[in-house]
Amino acid sequence: MDTHDSIHTHILSNPSSNDLLVAARALQNGELVAIPTETVYGLGANGLDAEAMDKIYAAKGRPSDNPLILHVPSIDSIRPLVKAIPKTAYQLMETFWPGPLTITLPKSDLVPYRATGGLERVALRCPDHDICRQLLSLAGVPIAAPSANISGRPSPTTAQAVYEDMNGRILYIVDAGPCSIGVESTVVEVQEDAVIILRPGGITKEMLETVVSTVTYDKALSSDAKPKAPGMKYKHYAPDAPMTAFVGNAQDVAIAIDKYVHSLTRQQGENVSHDCVHIAKACNVGYLLSKEVYEALQPTILTDVPVNCIHVYGQHGDAVSLAHDFYSALLSFNEAKVTHIIAEGVQPEGLGVAVMNRMEKASGGHIEYL
Ligand code: TXA
Ligand code: MG
Repeated sequence: MDTHDSIHTHILSNPSSNDLLVAARALQNGELVAIPTETVYGLGANGLDAEAMDKIYAAKGRPSDNPLILHVPSIDSIRPLVKAIPKTAYQLMETFWPGPLTITLPKSDLVPYRATGGLERVALRCPDHDICRQLLSLAGVPIAAPSANISGRPSPTTAQAVYEDMNGRILYIVDAGPCSIGVESTVVEVQEDAVIILRPGGITKEMLETVVSTVTYDKALSSDAKPKAPGMKYKHYAPDAPMTAFVGNAQDVAIAIDKYVHSLTRQQGENVSHDCVHIAKACNVGYLLSKEVYEALQPTILTDVPVNCIHVYGQHGDAVSLAHDFYSALLSFNEAKVTHIIAEGVQPEGLGVAVMNRMEKASGGHIEYL
């Protein structure tokens, strides 16, 4: 289907220091290497080399106006990349780096416009992941890295998921096991002593407010306004099957899901109702649920559902566990070839804002707050 298939993709599992040197050398030479971070796996290329970054856009099928994040091993390493580091930005870096916070600052001439999609600001992030930071130090150049998925699909949180999308398109995948957080970094723009959140993520609004007094969300996150982060306007995180999500107390969610599954079954027509094949099995639904809702539905609609179609993420309302499991659950439902996904969301508070932002996009806005 494409021109990438000639590349043989090697997975470097539990990478030795020699493996990291090999990967760093490949990055310096303009090759693509998938890198682990604490949020999701990144598709890395030399962030000072426009041709290397072109390969990222080609491998992902990514729109060329969607800028990349440059990953660095320390605060000091951003100095050559920006015009200046404003005080507020510095305070944020000191507090949250290494960690899942990406800050956009006016770029220096050293940063190619290829990294910024033609914008004057460059996005910078220092990941909280030892192997990643070792690799960044060895490479000695900033590493541009979007999430290592084909554009539009769920982001990968394991090396295996990267392989599914990128086999034949990139040289190496540095495999350091599953990512600890599971949703992407928070992207912020710093303006004097105020901060605008362009994409919610691992560092919450409340956490930012411990450092900066004025923290707001970009209007585009709650309306049709043009987003300041160009990537936010594109289709994202979409599983193969349509998804519907429910948020509320466990009992209400269980009742709503039960009702919804029955309505799906009716839509399936006569074959199903007729021979009494179990409804959920017949509909081939993938379920992403909390423990409480799973237990409520287990004796009824979930009795005959195959195990690979049920993913229980943790206690009701646990945004951290849902964030951790969200993309891998969507990818496992793709593999199980389900025809519908029913998910239980969490309240949009704290890390829940980031998770529900992803769920909103993955479901095309089909979320019912009960
Ligand atoms: O956690 C993460 O941030 C992961 C890991 C690999 O570090 N990376 C990631 O990259 O999510 P990506 O390319 O999938 O998303 C980057 C987001 C996009 O929405 C993009 O539009 C925005 O950051 N962005 C990048 N540079 C920007 C800039 N100069 N101004 C505004 N938004 C920017
Ligand atoms: Mg992405």
